[in-house]
Amino acid sequence: MKELEHRISQQRSIANELPGPKSAELTRRREAAVARALSPGLPGFVVDGDGGVLVDADGNSFIDFASGIAVTSVGASNPAVARAVAEQVAHLTHTSFMVSPYESYVAVAEKLNEITPGDHAKKSVLLNSGSEAVENAVKIARAYTKKQAVIVFDHGYHGRTNLTMAMTAKNKPYKSGFGPLAPEVYRAPMSYPLRDSLSGADAAGRSIKMMEQQVGADNIACIVIEPIQGEGGFIEPAKGFLPALKTWCEDNNVVFVADEIQAGFCRTGQWFACEYEGVVPDLVTLAKGIAGGLPLSAVTGTAEIMDAPGPGALGGTYGGNPVACAAALAAIEQMDTLQLCERALEIEKIVREMVEPLLSTGRIAELRGRGAMVALELVTADGAPDAELTAAVAAECKKEGVLILTCGLDGNVIRLLPPLVIEEALLRDGLQVLIDALRKHF
Ligand SMILES: Cc1ncc(COP(=O)(O)O)c(C=O)c1O
Repeated sequence: MKELEHRISQQRSIANELPGPKSAELTRRREAAVARALSPGLPGFVVDGDGGVLVDADGNSFIDFASGIAVTSVGASNPAVARAVAEQVAHLTHTSFMVSPYESYVAVAEKLNEITPGDHAKKSVLLNSGSEAVENAVKIARAYTKKQAVIVFDHGYHGRTNLTMAMTAKNKPYKSGFGPLAPEVYRAPMSYPLRDSLSGADAAGRSIKMMEQQVGADNIACIVIEPIQGEGGFIEPAKGFLPALKTWCEDNNVVFVADEIQAGFCRTGQWFACEYEGVVPDLVTLAKGIAGGLPLSAVTGTAEIMDAPGPGALGGTYGGNPVACAAALAAIEQMDTLQLCERALEIEKIVREMVEPLLSTGRIAELRGRGAMVALELVTADGAPDAELTAAVAAECKKEGVLILTCGLDGNVIRLLPPLVIEEALLRDGLQVLIDALRKHF
């Protein structure tokens, strides 16, 4: 992998005791002041970050295999993003695009229209969070089709707002106790090759049958699907599943929404994950990697569909804030300049080379995903999902200075989401820590 320049030394370095005294004191303040629903996984409080490293208040350097949940693909303090943000805040922090417009909002929309799949006429709306993008995609699809039902899939994750909570599959901790949930959301079976052994065409047939029998095409406004599922366990549907669903949508006046919030922006080795199957969605929801860590999200899609809601029907005070737009333009430019799609594929190659030898243990049921979005599904010796092992391995990695996230409905998936600017030596060091932790706990 090509070496990049970094401000902070790209090395893991951890003191004996975690958390250190400063982080321990900050943890005490957090526990007293912050709602307990927020329970961070890293034992240290972060003060700096660069490349593949996060530094905590006590000077510990962690290897970052999380990227702030797939956000800081260009790095947590990318110099081009930092410069663009500093220049923007010196002139204008906010006006609200709905009231007094500015060029950078239009420039981001033009860029998204250009880089998302398909060369048809497209338009965009900018928002703040991933959940808000998903909510708006549903509003747009309903306005366009004049239908109401929303189809989502087993294991799917789309957010924590009322509508997206209903669209998310996992009950605890995301939905339990927060009802009533939004109506007209229906869950179809997902293609999950490890567990259902179905071809893409057969799995799509099963989902289509459910949609037609239980909801009816006449009632369905949109299907919303992650081309590679994120929180649900990095589940990659069998080849042919997504194209078959897209064809069914075209035949039935149903809007096909690709939720690329976690998988988009070079993360999987393509600009967008649905490009692997040549699928051109009607609408794409975007967030996370879009702006180098600044809060920004978007819905981009076919101009005719995007224009279905009338003037004033979409928006929000902060959506497409000028600082976030400046960051997005810089971050997207960096993805091009640093060739981050190619780098994501190089990351995948190294992960596979180092982790594949462990498959013979029988405790990793599958090593799956694409680019720098790769996961290990862990099972017991009998093949059952092993959440205990997964939690123990993640805890061990954190103790050794590698920040690892878990996911999946059964809590038995370790997911790797390093910044795409991570250096090869650091990546290999972090993977070795993971491998040692796996071997120790098998
Ligand atoms: C696929 C997908 N959709 C939607 C969301 C919600 O995004 P946010 O947390 O920014 O609201 C997420 C967040 O993890 C996601 O991974």
